[in-house]
Amino acid sequence: METVLSGIRPTGNLHLGNYFGALSNFVEMQNHHNCYFFIADFHSLTTHPTPGDLHGNVRQVLVEYLAAGLDPEKSTLYIQSEVPEVAELYLYLNMNAYIGELERCTSFKDKIRQQPQNVNAGLLTYPTLMAADILIHRANKVPVGKDQEQHLEMTRQFGNRFNRMYNVDYFPEPQAFNFGKELVKIPGLNGTGKMGKSEGEGNAIFLSDEPEVIRKKVMKAVTDGGPTIQNQEKPDVIQNIFQLMKVVSAPETYNFFDEMYNTCQIRYGDMKKQLAVDMIAFTEPMREKIKAISADEKYVSNAARIGREKAHESAAKTIREVREIIGFKPF
Ligand code: TRP
Repeated sequence: METVLSGIRPTGNLHLGNYFGALSNFVEMQNHHNCYFFIADFHSLTTHPTPGDLHGNVRQVLVEYLAAGLDPEKSTLYIQSEVPEVAELYLYLNMNAYIGELERCTSFKDKIRQQPQNVNAGLLTYPTLMAADILIHRANKVPVGKDQEQHLEMTRQFGNRFNRMYNVDYFPEPQAFNFGKELVKIPGLNGTGKMGKSEGEGNAIFLSDEPEVIRKKVMKAVTDGGPTIQNQEKPDVIQNIFQLMKVVSAPETYNFFDEMYNTCQIRYGDMKKQLAVDMIAFTEPMREKIKAISADEKYVSNAARIGREKAHESAAKTIREVREIIGFKPF
């Protein structure tokens, strides 16, 4: 069976973009593959050396992963910092990662620009840490977006280099993975292309948002003056709210407003009211589950324990084998 692995940096509440971009697929994948899903809290330190509420943010992602339907028995759902073997593999991989290739990495160049006051070695070696995440379970498939493809390419490079150096065929080559489905791109509400946490106030609908909050955000969604010519193409901001409606509303609802647009009779206020109602209904089950799970300390810590144990077992095996390959032997 294929081993699938994915990591997410703990930024607190997840939004609908996270859900449709990845999470809903993970829920499917766990029925077909050997899945590892983890929260990359080591990685947080590269940008936030003293993160505000690290534990709270990690907990929120864990709770929301569980609420969305990830099953700690089916998948291995864990927190990176609870599996210190990852750090050991990171150390070994760093010995064979070259400054030049790390400096050429696009995400490193971006980060230098974003935080010139803190160009730390962890930023430079972000790709080796990510490679350690993937190689520690010898994963074959990594569901990643475009922005992570270079990191995945570097992971293959590091794994192959290790294999060549020690003349073994140990690490497989991990490939990008979409689980056969086209990922649904979720637009933001304030006219920007993508739903995202850092895309501005009111842009994202969080899975944990209360109905009133959702209603307010949707009613404030950016629109334009309305169509003046029949069947005219929708500008991006209008595409955005239609795209959201396509995802959360019934097809008849979508078709109705599409028709109103095409005949220049649309009233965006009515459309947004409907979108808000459907959005609230769509998110309701997850919102309720998030609340229930979050309030159940035992359930959360038990889920974390199961994940930690399973991840540790797999990681410890790899480290044992890697140590032997390198030549560290017990005395
Ligand atoms: N770098 C990824 C991101 O920015 C998070 C991540 C860390 C990851 N380690 C990983 C993703 C391993 C996939 C596999 O989103």
